[in-house]
Amino acid sequence: MNITAGGPLESESGEALAVPVFEDRTWGPGADWAAEQLGGRLDEYLDEQDFSGKAGEVVAVPTGGRLEFHTLFLVGLGSDVDLEALRKAAGWLGRKAAKTVDVATTLHQVDLDGAAGAVVEGFLLGQYRFDTYKSEPKLAKTEMLRFVGDGAGDAVDASGPAQVVADAVYLTRDLINEPANAKAPAVLADRAREIGRSVGVAVKVLGPDEILAERLGGLAGVSLGAHNPARLVEFSYEPADPKAFVALVGKGVVFDSGGLSLKTGEGMETMKTDMAGAAAVFGAIQAIAALRIPVKVIGITPLTENMPGGGAMRPGDVIRPRNGKTVEVLNTDAEGRLVLADGLSLAGEAEPDLIVDVATLTGACKVALGEKIGGLWANDDEAAEQVLAAAARAGERFWRMPLPEDYRKNIDSDIADMKNIGARWGGAINAALFLKEFVADGVPWVHLDIAGPGRWSNDEHYQSKGGSGFGMRTLVALVEDFAS
Ligand code: BES
Ligand code: MN
Ligand code: ZN
Repeated sequence: MNITAGGPLESESGEALAVPVFEDRTWGPGADWAAEQLGGRLDEYLDEQDFSGKAGEVVAVPTGGRLEFHTLFLVGLGSDVDLEALRKAAGWLGRKAAKTVDVATTLHQVDLDGAAGAVVEGFLLGQYRFDTYKSEPKLAKTEMLRFVGDGAGDAVDASGPAQVVADAVYLTRDLINEPANAKAPAVLADRAREIGRSVGVAVKVLGPDEILAERLGGLAGVSLGAHNPARLVEFSYEPADPKAFVALVGKGVVFDSGGLSLKTGEGMETMKTDMAGAAAVFGAIQAIAALRIPVKVIGITPLTENMPGGGAMRPGDVIRPRNGKTVEVLNTDAEGRLVLADGLSLAGEAEPDLIVDVATLTGACKVALGEKIGGLWANDDEAAEQVLAAAARAGERFWRMPLPEDYRKNIDSDIADMKNIGARWGGAINAALFLKEFVADGVPWVHLDIAGPGRWSNDEHYQSKGGSGFGMRTLVALVEDFAS
C-alpha cells in the first residue's frame, strides 16, 4: 500500500474520505467540515444507521456530490481515546474500506503522540487476509492511503516504522496460518534464511545430527515420532555499538498431535498454530533489523512436529535437555516445555541482558486468561515491568502470573530431576516453573504464554480470525525500549 500526503482538505477529492468522530457525534478533525458540507440530512442518516461515534462503529455515508469524495467514512472513536483505540478504529475502517482503492483520511490529526503510526498499523492489519489457498481470492484492496489536511507530511514520515511493523505482522500471521503440510521444520528454516538475507541478519540452522551433537535432548526427544526432521534456527542481529543484548526464544511446534499422548480430533484442529511463538520471533527479527534498532538480538526457535510415529517418545521415557537435568516425560503432549528447555539453555549461554520466550504453551493459560490476554511470568520484577510496559504500548494485553517456589514439588519425579507435567491445577504455572529450571542463574527472564491470543477466534478491529501474530509487536516495542 502506498502512503502519501495530500493538500488541505477543502482542495482534495477522490473515492473516499475517512474522518474521526467521538462519542455522541462529537466531530473530530475534518468531520466538522465534512458535516457542514453535507448539511442537515446527515444527522437523519446517522440516526437511521444508528451511528453515534462509539468505538467500533464505522459508517459509509454516500455524499451525493456535496463533497468531492464519493463516500465519507465516519470512524467512531468513543471517548477516552488512546493509541490502541485509534489502532482498533483504523482496523475497523480498514475492514469497511477493504474494497476502496483510494482512501483519504484526517485520522492522523487525532491529538495523540504517534497517531499516524497507529492509524497505519491498524488500517493495514485490518486488511490482512490469508487467501493463499483460495482459487478465487477477493482481489480488490486499498492501494493508497492518503493523509490530508494539517500534519499530512509529518504523518507520512512517521508511518514508515508502522509499515515495517505491519509487514512483520503479516509475515507472522502468514507463517501461523500456513497449513502444517507446507511448513515442515526444514521449510521454515529456509524461510528464516530468506528473512535473514533480506534484512541482513545472520542465520544458523542446526539439522538433526547437529541437534544431537549439541545435546539438545528436549528438541531431539520431541522430534523422535516425526517423519519430518527437526531444525533449530538461530538468528543473530548484531548492529554496531549495541545498547543492550536481548535473546528471544520461540516455541516452534509446527504441528502438535500430542504425540503418543494423542490429542482428540477436535483438540488437533488448530494445532498448526503451535509455532506461533517461533513465528513471532521470525517477525520480530525482521522488523527489528529493518528498523535498524541499535540493540543486539538473537532469536532461537526450535522447530519440530510432535507426532506419534514408531520412534516416538513413550510416556515414562527419560530425556536430558542441554543443561543436563533429567526429565521424565509422563505426557508427550507437554512437549513445548521440552523444546523450550533447550532454547532457553542456548539463550542463557549467550549471556544476554534479558531472555524472553514466547509460546503457545498451555491450554490452562487459555482457561485462566481467555482468548485475548497472554500470561506473563518472570524471575525479575524489573524485567516483568519492562515487558508489560512494552506490551501496553503495542496494545497487546498480558497479565503477570506467579512463580511460587512451593509449587515446584508439583513437578518432582520419582526417578528423574523433574517430570514434564504437574498436578492438574495451575497447569500454566507448573509449565512456567518447569521452564525456570532451564534459565541460567542470574539472567533476567520473561515467559509469555500466548496459547489464548496466539489465535483470534473471529474478525474484529485489526485482528482477523486465525493466526494473530500476538506477541510480535510486544517484542519489537521491548527492543525499541532497550535502545533508548
Ligand atoms: N500446544 C499445547 C497448548 C495449547 C492448547 C495451545 C490449546 C493452544 C491451544 C501444548 O503443547 C499442550 O498440549 N499442553 C498441554 C499440557 C498438558 C499435557 C500438561 C495442555 O495444555 O493440555
Ligand atoms: Mn502439546
Ligand atoms: Zn504444543
